[in-house]
Amino acid sequence: MSTALEVHDLYKFHPQGDEKVPILRGVSFEVREKEFVCVMGPSGSGKSTLLHLLSGLDEPSAGHVVLSGEDLSSLGDRGRTLKRRDGVGYVFQFFNLMPNLSVAENIGLPIAIAGGRPEQRAEELNELARKLGIESRLEALPHQLSGGEMQRVSIARALIGGQPLLLCDEPTGNLSQKAGAEVMQLLRGAVDDGGRTVLLVTHNPRDAAYADRVLFLVDGELAQDAELSGPGIRVEDVHAALANLAI
Ligand SMILES: Nc1ncnc2c1ncn2[C@@H]1O[C@H](COP(=O)(O)OP(=O)(O)OP(=O)(O)O)[C@@H](O)[C@H]1O
Ligand SMILES: [Mg+2]
Repeated sequence: MSTALEVHDLYKFHPQGDEKVPILRGVSFEVREKEFVCVMGPSGSGKSTLLHLLSGLDEPSAGHVVLSGEDLSSLGDRGRTLKRRDGVGYVFQFFNLMPNLSVAENIGLPIAIAGGRPEQRAEELNELARKLGIESRLEALPHQLSGGEMQRVSIARALIGGQPLLLCDEPTGNLSQKAGAEVMQLLRGAVDDGGRTVLLVTHNPRDAAYADRVLFLVDGELAQDAELSGPGIRVEDVHAALANLAI
C-alpha cells in the first residue's frame, strides 16, 4: 500500500517569553493511504501544532513532511497552498468559518476555491448537511450557530472538497455523544467507502476506537511503546494506554 503521509524527525519551537520552547521534538511516523490514524495526548502536547505542520499551514523548525510523495519543504508558499488545497481537507479545532458567509456558502467554499460552482453540487451539499443534522441551518450565518453546529459545518466543509487526506482536530469536541458517534461513522465511511485517509486528533477514547492505529504524543515525542494497532481497537485498551502514560 502507498504512503499518504511521511513525517521525518519533526521539530517545532514556539516562543514563550524570551525563550524558544520545543513543542515537537523529533516526531516521525507514516500514514498509509486509506488508513485511519488517531493521535492522542495531553492538552498542550502539540497536537494542533503537528496538524498545522502536516498541512503546510505552518513550517517546522526542522524535519520534513512528505505529502503524497512530495516534500513540503521543497515547495514555495504558492506550491504549498496548492498542495493543501488539492490534498488536504481540514477540520479546525476552532472551526475557522468565514463569518460573512452562510452555512451553505461556508460548506461550498472548497468547491469555489478549486474553481467549481457550489450550486452545481447542491444535492451533494444538502445530503452531507442532512447526514450531519445541519440541513435546517444552511441559510444561517456562523454567529447564529451553536458550537456543535459550527463544528459540523467545518466537518462538512472538509468532507465536500474530496481531498484524499483529512486532518481532523478534535472534530467531536463540541458534540453530544450521539452526534459525535455519527461524525465518527461518517469519517470511518470516508476511509472504508470513500478511500480517504484520516488523521484524527481526539481526547475521546470512544473516538479513538474507530481508528486503525492510535499514536500517543507526550512531551513533544511519540510514545512508541504505547502505540495501539487494529483491526478492532477496544475503548478499554485506549483507556489503559492513557492511564499507563498518566494522560
Ligand atoms: N503560535 C504559537 N506561539 C507560541 N506558542 C504556541 C503557539 N501555538 C501553540 N503554542 C504553544 O505550544 C503548545 C502546544 O500547543 P497545541 O495547540 O499544539 O497543543 P494541543 O496538543 O493541540 O492542545 P489541546 O489539546 O489543548 O488542543 C502549547 O503550550 C501552546 O501554548
Ligand atoms: Mg489542539
